[in-house]
Amino acid sequence: MKTLRMILLSCCLLAMLSVTGLAQTKSLYERLGGKEAITLVVDEFAARCLADSRINKKFAKSDANRLKTMLVAQICGATGGPCEYNGLDMKTAHKNMGVTDGEFTALVENLVGALDKYKVPEAEKKELLGALGPMKGDIVEVQGNETGTALPKKFKPAPPLKAMKEHKDKKSKKDKKN
Ligand code: HEM
Repeated sequence: MKTLRMILLSCCLLAMLSVTGLAQTKSLYERLGGKEAITLVVDEFAARCLADSRINKKFAKSDANRLKTMLVAQICGATGGPCEYNGLDMKTAHKNMGVTDGEFTALVENLVGALDKYKVPEAEKKELLGALGPMKGDIVEVQGNETGTALPKKFKPAPPLKAMKEHKDKKSKKDKKN
């Protein structure tokens, strides 16, 4: 009887541990709702940035499709999802853009707005912002709270996704020939 009680107790304990354990081992990617949910948030985030006069001058020369695709891949990969981010590193991507501290904050506010729209819980929101926050040093080039600053003439945007694909296709055709 005593042994049976011990076995039952151990089973209960194991079940409890595995339930709480499972909840904890879920990646942030899974808790955010996977790639579909991340894509919805990124679309909303991008729309907010493009409509925000505090930062939208910075996006004037860039391919929105590339930016959104890269952001989804970056967030998916950084949160433990199955994506590989093959875009530029943050320093190169934002080089000569003249981003200020104030503009960085404005962009983060738009991300928070998008996460709130889709009711992402506080814990997941904090975790995602915590993963992106350390990138600030590679992105901000101008100290100060000014916003709405012009995009410097020397900024060179990355090629649009279509051009990248054509270049890759051409290269692989050439490689096959050789
Ligand atoms: C933590 C904050 C940020 C993250 C995680 C982030 C992430 C990214 C990523 C993944 C790309 C794509 C790189 C590629 O095309 O290979 C990108 C590009 C870009 N980002 Fe950011 N970014 C951040 C902050 C900002 C801020 C504050 C601004 C401006 C106010 C900005 C403006 C842009 C623009 C205009 C591009 C396109 C660059 C181009 O056309 O080459 N980003 N960013």
